[in-house]
Amino acid sequence: MNATAWTRRHVLTLSDFTPTEYDIVLQTAASFREVISRRTKKVPTLQGQVVTTMFFEPSTRTRSSFELAAKRLSADTLSFSPGTSSLTKGETLFDTAKTYLALGTNLMVVRHQQAGVPRAIAAELDRLGAGVGVLNAGDGQHEHPSQALLDLFSLCRSLDLRNPRRELLAGKKVAIVGDILHSRVARSNIWSLTACGAEVHLVAPPTLLPRWFAEIAPNVTVHWQLEPALERANFVMALRLQQERMGQHLLPSLREYHRTFGITRERLSGCDRDVKILHPGPMNRGVEIDSDLADDLQFSLIQDQVTSGVAVRMALLYLMGGTK
Ligand code: NCD
Repeated sequence: MNATAWTRRHVLTLSDFTPTEYDIVLQTAASFREVISRRTKKVPTLQGQVVTTMFFEPSTRTRSSFELAAKRLSADTLSFSPGTSSLTKGETLFDTAKTYLALGTNLMVVRHQQAGVPRAIAAELDRLGAGVGVLNAGDGQHEHPSQALLDLFSLCRSLDLRNPRRELLAGKKVAIVGDILHSRVARSNIWSLTACGAEVHLVAPPTLLPRWFAEIAPNVTVHWQLEPALERANFVMALRLQQERMGQHLLPSLREYHRTFGITRERLSGCDRDVKILHPGPMNRGVEIDSDLADDLQFSLIQDQVTSGVAVRMALLYLMGGTK
């Protein structure tokens, strides 16, 4: 596999990602994962390039992960926060993007509460002939491609540490549990996991999981009860209840949710013996997942997701930085 086969300037969605692109990302991330385990963690790959993170919505791990990834590739980094910017003086989104373009930005990492904003910025930059790559770091309830790619990398790595590859997921059962309705992580994961041959089982109360999710892609099953979704599952991905996006009372109470859908040790008894747990974070301990289970390294890939996230984002910035 050769990184020169990469032609995508922007990464906005996984809905049209090809098997070759998944292979390139996984292989490139594997080599960066090796780089960041060395004593000297920095490579000169993006020296002289400028990576700008524009986050219009709160973030801990995604923003830090992209900034660290850019720094480890020796890029210069700029970071935009709406609260302290000229947006408060009435500047438009596109003018903000153009300002960062004039400052020499080569790659823009954009998170926004509205679906479609990263794509709109990418289209405007293309119209200007800027040659700048835009990476969607989470747009509303739409998609979060780099999260799903790091989840994919963690899953494959747990199956073969030395050679994490797409084929390992064929026929594996992945249960995604929680607030599917509001989750861009779930939507991106549906694309990547099904494209790699996994069977995706979505489970939540009906208020958080409309039936039509089963029609998004082949090999997606919808459940409104936890047990059949977890039965013989190889992986369980818990999602946060996104209360900030819930306009009305979609749940009786958090305690009731934990009682019926919370991931506990007892609930894992029906899963595959080697089941592994994921969570994109931020976690509500004791709601989506038992606190001690989240920290139990026999089961939990949650810390690995964060570490692997840096390698996967290095891979994406490196690949996108190479397209003209
Ligand atoms: C997710 C997000 O922001 O979409 N978190 C993340 O990026 N790691 C999920 C969430 O907010 O629950």
